[in-house]
Amino acid sequence: MLADYFGVLGFHALVAGARLGIFDALDSAPATPEGLALSLGLDHHGTDVLLRGLAGLGYVRSRRGVYRLTRASRLWLVSSSPSCLVEGLAFWERSACVYWPALEKAVRDGGPPVPFYTLTEDDPELSRSFQTWTAAVARRQAPATAAAIPVGRDARHMLDLGGSHAIYSLELLRLHPGLHATVVDLPQALESAQEHPRLRLHAGSFLDDELGEGYDVVLLFNIVHGLDDDQTARLLAKVALALNPGGTIVIGDQFRGPAPGRASRTLVDLLDLNYLVTIGGRIRPYREIVRLLRESGFIEPRHRRPLRSPATELAIATR
Ligand SMILES: C[S@@+](CC[C@H](N)C(=O)[O-])C[C@H]1O[C@@H](n2cnc3c(N)ncnc32)[C@H](O)[C@@H]1O
Repeated sequence: MLADYFGVLGFHALVAGARLGIFDALDSAPATPEGLALSLGLDHHGTDVLLRGLAGLGYVRSRRGVYRLTRASRLWLVSSSPSCLVEGLAFWERSACVYWPALEKAVRDGGPPVPFYTLTEDDPELSRSFQTWTAAVARRQAPATAAAIPVGRDARHMLDLGGSHAIYSLELLRLHPGLHATVVDLPQALESAQEHPRLRLHAGSFLDDELGEGYDVVLLFNIVHGLDDDQTARLLAKVALALNPGGTIVIGDQFRGPAPGRASRTLVDLLDLNYLVTIGGRIRPYREIVRLLRESGFIEPRHRRPLRSPATELAIATR
């Protein structure tokens, strides 16, 4: 219990360490508190206390008064690392301070008064920090995930619904040189998308707009957890129309159920609460996803776990 009671203090220590440049500085060279304070223009005592706190939390370690990064910090907290999550901290800070205080109300009412993706479209800064966070996760997960997606040799067109940064599409384009991709997302989200000669960006709503037709593969990555059953059924019906016969739908998401270890299960449950409080969404068990897929006419559902974590699992089915 104490870890949660005081957890918010650890979170702010992490944010301060990142914003003050401590992780980047220690990546360049191990340092004493005094040396670090001098090079970053910080108070010596403050730096000393913060470093001790960060050491207790496992972000840095010290030997004979010299601090260096732990392996995890070098991976997640250094701005030159492709997996850096620091920019996403702004999103979690805002989530924790602005949205999560409404948790009691969301538990009573079943969701937030204004869904998150309405807020992001009106707030470029919030959208950017959110997309930075999802992109950092996607960059780590895309190689193994894309390799687990069956794309036929004749496949030409892929649709990535809510694909924003387009990282999953780009990885599939890399693996399949004959493939072209269309990413559909809301206008602000697409600001974070990278360009590619075989990638088309379409600003619009996958719920309200026509999706077109003639696709061989449709991706729904981290989308279904934000939709209720009616919206999901409507979307899956549209996807069925957009896919060629024999085409493939891939739902990448968290699925509720057995997860390897208590920490993973807790993470999935806390994400489920996060979806409740921010978008009125939910994490479903795989069998519910299969039911929704079958009701929309999809066949041969199969479950894939290309990553070791339950952060993204795949439900793949055929039209
Ligand atoms: C959790 S993010 C997932 C981004 C990406 N697919 C991934 O897995 O990293 C959900 C995305 O869906 C987009 N989105 C939500 N509602 C949408 C809608 N009605 N039409 C199009 N995009 C939508 C959001 O803007 C956001 O980029």
